[in-house]
Amino acid sequence: MPHSVLWSSGRYISQTKDPLPDLSLVLKVQILTQMDSGGRNVKPWKIAVIIVSVIIGLALIIGLISYFLCHYQDRYYNATFLITNVPYDPQYGRQTTEEFRYLSQEIETTMSKVFKGSFLSRKYIRSHVVALSPDPGGVLVSVALVFKFASADSKATSWSHVNSVLRRRLETSSTFLNVDQSTIKLTELNKENGDNLINNFCGIRKEAFSFSGVERITDGQRARDGEWPWQASIQLDGTHYCGASVISNTWLVTAAHCFKAGREPRRWTASFGILLRPPKQRKYVRRIIIHEKYNGLVPDHEYDIALVELASSIEFTSDVHSVCLPEASYILRDNTSCFVTGWGALRNDGPSVNQLRQAEVKIISTAVCNRPQVYAGVITPGMLCAGYLEGRVDACQGDSGGPLVKANSRGIWYLVGIVSWGDECGKADKPGVYTRVTSYRDWIASKTGI
Ligand code: ARG
Repeated sequence: MPHSVLWSSGRYISQTKDPLPDLSLVLKVQILTQMDSGGRNVKPWKIAVIIVSVIIGLALIIGLISYFLCHYQDRYYNATFLITNVPYDPQYGRQTTEEFRYLSQEIETTMSKVFKGSFLSRKYIRSHVVALSPDPGGVLVSVALVFKFASADSKATSWSHVNSVLRRRLETSSTFLNVDQSTIKLTELNKENGDNLINNFCGIRKEAFSFSGVERITDGQRARDGEWPWQASIQLDGTHYCGASVISNTWLVTAAHCFKAGREPRRWTASFGILLRPPKQRKYVRRIIIHEKYNGLVPDHEYDIALVELASSIEFTSDVHSVCLPEASYILRDNTSCFVTGWGALRNDGPSVNQLRQAEVKIISTAVCNRPQVYAGVITPGMLCAGYLEGRVDACQGDSGGPLVKANSRGIWYLVGIVSWGDECGKADKPGVYTRVTSYRDWIASKTGI
């Protein structure tokens, strides 16, 4: 005799009648049971087995459905095309030039218009110009495109959607650029190549993080994963001592005064990721190069810069990779908004923290910073001041060596300062003083080739 078990909203009902009134929301499991001679009931262990299998089955089905409907994955493409109305300029050969920035930004804005104005608007994440190369017909553009597609979308369909939107809209989306339609090529990159492509560019963040409010490292805002991927901690005998910035997979830049406590590479390690414990990666130090002219005498803070060579390469990920270095000729205007990050003290002489913090600070001109009531003339051309004359927001002890960064108009982050010194922390008229990176740009290149 057939015997059925119904499982409905967590309860099971055992009955001997087979036909069921409404099957729409009820999962029906039919089993044929052996009955012992006298009894009619299913053995309890069998019921248990059935319930467990039904639960597992349901969980699997729900899991699969949600995986396909709600699970998104990044897909990367490389698009190339020819711009015919811009003559090639040799300055396009270097990513850090103003010319490269200007044209790339125009192209990236156009890409965003192309996709944001299409049915792919919610799947489009970002574009990044990878190269601008010379071509007899103008400038050949190579741009990486990142999309978030549902896992259920087939690769072929996604590719053809991106391709058709690009062909349909690229020509008409820019008032400034003339794109030769016949030269558009789109190739999909696999995840690894796509990740590598994006993570190997300096100064890029995976997501656009929005920032709310003015905070300070003293009582400041906590950083989130991947927000400042170039931030490193350099540690003496395993204890956080200073901040540093990743400028390549084997080189960090930091402050010279961090090594007053010891210069033997063996005693130093570097860690990466927003938490000191546990870090995302950890590396031994091979070599420490302190600026030849740094003399470590107080109050002489000149030439407060050092390079740290790692014993093995950092594996670049979206959470750990390099920041860009500005050209030596780059001019940092007063009042520019920058960010300083570190694990340093929340107040003067306080302990360091485990989770990275960030603060927004503004560039203060050297003329103002050298006023008698501020630093009275001790600020040299190799230094820069950032913070607020009213005080409060500042870096502090333990932030030394760490980055002061600024985003350009493409959203690419540049290292403009290295936390160096200050009169206590967050005091009025005593802003933070940083090593001016542009002054040491050529020195960095001479030691590292970067
Ligand atoms: N010299 C300090 C250090 O070793 C950092 C000083 C930064 N101070 C400031 N008020 N911005 O960590």
